Amino acid sequence: MSLPPNFLEELRLRTPLAPLIGRSVKLTRAGRQWRGCCPFHGEKSPSFYVYDDHYHCFGCGAHGDAIAYVMQSQGASFPEAVERLAAEAGLEVPKATPQQARREEKRRDLHGVMQAAAEAFQRRLRLPEGRAGLDYLLRRGLSEETIRKFGLGWSGGGRGTLAADLKPLGIEPPQLVEAGLMRAGEGDAPPADLYFNRVMFPIRDRRGRIVSFGGRVLGDAQPKYVNGPETELFSKRRNLYGADLAREAAFKGAPVVVVEGYMDVIALHQAGFGGAVAPLGTALTEEQLAELWRMAPQPLLCFDGDKAGLRAAARAAELALPLLSPERSLGFVTLPAGEDPDTLVAKGGSGAFRTLLEAARPLSAVLYGMLAEKHPGGTPEARAALRHDLEDAAGKIPDKFLAGEYRRALLDSFFAGNRRPAPAPRQPWSPRGGAGGRGARPLAPALNLPRPGIDPAQVRQEQARCLLAITLAHPWLLGEVEEALASLELPEGMARRLQQAMLGWHGGTERLEAAALADHLEKMDPDGLAWLRQSPRMLPAAAKEAALPQLVTQQWWYFFGRFRGEAALLLEREAAVRDLAATGSAAAQTRLIRLNELLAAQRRGEMEEENEGG
Ligand code: UTP
Ligand code: MN
Repeated sequence: MSLPPNFLEELRLRTPLAPLIGRSVKLTRAGRQWRGCCPFHGEKSPSFYVYDDHYHCFGCGAHGDAIAYVMQSQGASFPEAVERLAAEAGLEVPKATPQQARREEKRRDLHGVMQAAAEAFQRRLRLPEGRAGLDYLLRRGLSEETIRKFGLGWSGGGRGTLAADLKPLGIEPPQLVEAGLMRAGEGDAPPADLYFNRVMFPIRDRRGRIVSFGGRVLGDAQPKYVNGPETELFSKRRNLYGADLAREAAFKGAPVVVVEGYMDVIALHQAGFGGAVAPLGTALTEEQLAELWRMAPQPLLCFDGDKAGLRAAARAAELALPLLSPERSLGFVTLPAGEDPDTLVAKGGSGAFRTLLEAARPLSAVLYGMLAEKHPGGTPEARAALRHDLEDAAGKIPDKFLAGEYRRALLDSFFAGNRRPAPAPRQPWSPRGGAGGRGARPLAPALNLPRPGIDPAQVRQEQARCLLAITLAHPWLLGEVEEALASLELPEGMARRLQQAMLGWHGGTERLEAAALADHLEKMDPDGLAWLRQSPRMLPAAAKEAALPQLVTQQWWYFFGRFRGEAALLLEREAAVRDLAATGSAAAQTRLIRLNELLAAQRRGEMEEENEGG
């Protein structure tokens, strides 16, 4: 989304901050500003300040403007936040080109068609003809509230009912075909209905707009579910049922859980698991994995305990390996034989499902189990083949640190042989990897390995080391990144001390030279300096003094993004745009270019840490 800068200025001008934030946070006047308890970290005494054009929390460092606030508090993406605020401010978000505008308009029309269809289906569910459908849903344990929340409906008897329902709204059958609600007729035949006497499940995209429907028969007839076709709005491989609700829930700390079916998602939401989603009748795709990782660093995949379930789990693990990073992993949950999540919560309540989630196994353990099963027998040949496969699996992970950790974890299991591993320590773990995990229920995966595959604290520690080591080698960076560095909440201890020492030094020095900074750190924190310098082969290429400035800034911002996430990068980019407009300096320009590259790379999910050592 490329927007003219004056549009964003206008939007901010028309969106006074205090009333916006005041809807969710109790603010009181404090001089010229407003003050309240920070919504981003639990606190009892207020350290969250709202100014004319930005907010700042002196407790957790949360910081931003109106757009950032909507992003941070509602888990919205940048374009979504802009759109929401623009709608409230009565502004039209400008469209880039006439073609894009036309396409956008057509999609809006189709969204309107889908919404109208959903409302027609919902109405029919409440008519006498829909009674059987409503009874069916109630019999399956859904509450009225759940039925409404998921917008469930009744298709009617087909043979033109939907077209007749929508005709008064000016919606014609060709549009219904385009929306995937009717099938185009062969030759001259008129369009035909897709759904007859079925309970209708609207499928929403991540932004909550209806993009398709699934329809279930009441009895055991086949096919059990009819799903909408691929359309301009709907791509089966890109969508997850329940994603719109799960995104918000995940943002508030709910675990993200992938299950198999529509009814599983609905039953889980009703039982309090707001992070439940399902693929749409196919195996999990790469696009869906990417979507899951946008919600949480370690989504949990639920599989049946039978052979088919094991195969599906293996396929998911295989798919995930080349996409893993220190902040993108998976957990695996195995269902008891003969149950799906829907039947499980019906019998055992939410406690039964929670227990299951708490026993989630990390990917590394599942991987080991899968590969070990492939080479049974324990003969030297089988052991050699297994070891080969383990190396191979670890080698598929692009992130070199992480690949190293996997190799070690897998080989530890290999050498541990049949000895029972000691129980792993419980580790509280926040699904958002930051923000203190407010409201999150710590999940302790049952780690069946002597060593966890990924220890988030250790990963953050190492990332902080990379960031600080790059800064140490290139103190000129501080001119560009001072504010950004100050805003980071690095791990307590060495990393935090070094961060403070570097910022302090920058405030008082005239010479931005590596040797001078090293001298300063040697005096202030010799242990910290030694830590930064240890195992240099594990550091990114940018931490070498000979690295080119372009690489240095690129990698610095990359690690910054690892700590602060995309929202913060977007804010940085906006600041860079303003800076460039105000100063026109080359430094501002390179900063903007770096940030743009980084954001594009993150979106493509292809950024990987370089650490060529040597
Ligand atoms: P299941 O057969 O496990 O159904 O299919 P379910 O979700 O448990 O449904 P209930 O409980 O019998 O109502 C899992 C998922 O596979 C897809 C649907 O997305 C379904 O939710 N599916 C299944 C189809 O698309 N078509 C079918 O005919 C069957
Ligand atoms: Mn089921």
